Amino acid sequence: MQSGQPSRTALAAATHRAVHQVLERGHIFADPLAERILGADAEAAVEKARSDASKRRLRLFIAVRTRFAEDALATVVGHGVRQLVVLGAGLDTFAYRTTFGENLRVFEVDHPATQAWKCQRLAEAAIPQPDTLTFVPIDFERETLAEALAANDFDAARQTFFTWLGVVPYLTEQAVFSTLGFIASLRGGSHVVFDYSNPLEMEAVRDEQAAERAALAERVNSLGESFRSYFNTHELHIKLTDLGFREIEDLGPASIRARYFANRGSSSGDKGGHVVRATTV
Ligand SMILES: C[S@@+](CC[C@H](N)C(=O)[O-])C[C@H]1O[C@@H](n2cnc3c(N)ncnc32)[C@H](O)[C@@H]1O
Repeated sequence: MQSGQPSRTALAAATHRAVHQVLERGHIFADPLAERILGADAEAAVEKARSDASKRRLRLFIAVRTRFAEDALATVVGHGVRQLVVLGAGLDTFAYRTTFGENLRVFEVDHPATQAWKCQRLAEAAIPQPDTLTFVPIDFERETLAEALAANDFDAARQTFFTWLGVVPYLTEQAVFSTLGFIASLRGGSHVVFDYSNPLEMEAVRDEQAAERAALAERVNSLGESFRSYFNTHELHIKLTDLGFREIEDLGPASIRARYFANRGSSSGDKGGHVVRATTV
């Protein structure tokens, strides 16, 4: 991230969700606030995406990871979980459209510059901030999540659901595992959903997909937010287990295709990101 600046990739992810509402009619992930939070930028982004299919695969992956996370969240809320922590929230709109109301306390954890910019966007779009929401400022590379949450009335004894979407690839391994270690250590029990990519050499990617990944890495680099972490799936699962996660559900490209694109004549491609859910309870 560029010092003192809001995350540019947060804007990019939010733009993909907004475009998905129009070009794919939100069929993977429906978000009634996705366009509104972008304001005047939404229409231009849709027009640009309409004439350029090169980012479709990434857009669908972003829709899938959010849908997967919110479906998993709904399940655990049904079982009594009352705390959600949205790590690296960016322009995520869940807190502003949730139907769980008082039943779910939401903590949005993000870089302070991104949070200030989000608050401005919310105000411009006249999207009210619910009383159930708390903003928690953090720099994952410099502060611990434990300290940041403790300073904001987070109850470590209550079972908690964490989403961490589109953030892990931008952090060092050390920051990733220290955060996952904290999540796994919570005495009330925890669930986490995050996404990651395999190192390129692990994947038998077609030239076209390798070129797409290289272009994405270059794009985020030019936005001052380089990719820093890739994980081998098997090794990641071992580490998650060592940290104390008991159940691990990891959707790679083939499972994503089977679950979300079967019978739709649409594809997320053969290779790409993974989205994983891990739980300690
Ligand atoms: C690609 S955006 C994803 C935003 C959101 N989760 C989504 O899916 O739309 C990456 C997010 O990670 C946050 N982030 C990146 N590095 C960070 C750091 N070192 N500390 C705190 N937040 C960070 C950015 O502020 C941004 O909100």
